[in-house]
Amino acid sequence: MAVATAHEYIVRTKGLVKEYTMGGQALRALKGVTLDIRRGEYISLMGPSGSGKSTLFNMIGGLDKPSEGSVFIDEVDMAQLDASELAYLRCRRIGYIFQTFNLIPVMTALENVTLPMIFAGIPSDEAAEKGIMLLKTVGLGDRLHHKPSELSGGQQQRVAIARSFANDPVIILADEPTGNLDLKTGQEIIELLRLMNKERGVTIISATHDLKMVDVSDRIVWIRDGAIERIEERADIQLRVGEMEGPEA
Ligand SMILES: Nc1ncnc2c1ncn2[C@@H]1O[C@H](COP(=O)(O)OP(=O)(O)O)[C@@H](O)[C@H]1O
Ligand SMILES: [Mg+2]
Repeated sequence: MAVATAHEYIVRTKGLVKEYTMGGQALRALKGVTLDIRRGEYISLMGPSGSGKSTLFNMIGGLDKPSEGSVFIDEVDMAQLDASELAYLRCRRIGYIFQTFNLIPVMTALENVTLPMIFAGIPSDEAAEKGIMLLKTVGLGDRLHHKPSELSGGQQQRVAIARSFANDPVIILADEPTGNLDLKTGQEIIELLRLMNKERGVTIISATHDLKMVDVSDRIVWIRDGAIERIEERADIQLRVGEMEGPEA
């Protein structure tokens, strides 16, 4: 592990532009996004539906390519990676969590969690052992052999969280992880993510419009209409809440 030379910023985006063409019409989903994310941070990308959160998520995660601009992961320009390096990045360094869980329906919880390890070439007994450990960590030690359809939404998202940690990623990207969950279950998922962020030092970048995320985030990046509107440190937000709740209230 290159701890001594670890870069302060795990993710940097520079002038990211994404244009989609639909029916001959160009649509600018991102209009020049420059953002530096520190190692170990919990960042929420907050903004209304259609503001470009998922588009930015896909660029940072190497799931899609920007029209202009660059994404650096640990100071390496993603555009410079060849196909196998990009595959390695996606498989080993980044974990993904989606709103709709995206588990494989015919596989058990344990099989879903071990799959990324099998792809990474880890022997199956070792993968199983780690999968069990991860499922215990997310509170599903008694649901190892259940299939997604036999689990609640919150439990499915816990499986997805365990899966995202399978290969010890340095970055977790979560796109609306609480979007399909009720208030209480969403809160539990947020707390679990925060716990894993703190305990494992993994950087979490979550696209959301769930205001419950504000409490756990180190910084909130407000996105509107494909551009960063403002960036707030949690301390600033709590100060503001404090002001609002001041002696007058
Ligand atoms: N594959 C696509 N093709 C065309 N337009 C898209 C595509 N994906 C997203 N968009 C458009 O880009 C804008 C941003 O979308 P998105 O990043 O999904 O927003 P959010 O995740 O914040 O809801 C929206 O106007 C959306 O309609
Ligand atoms: Mg989205």
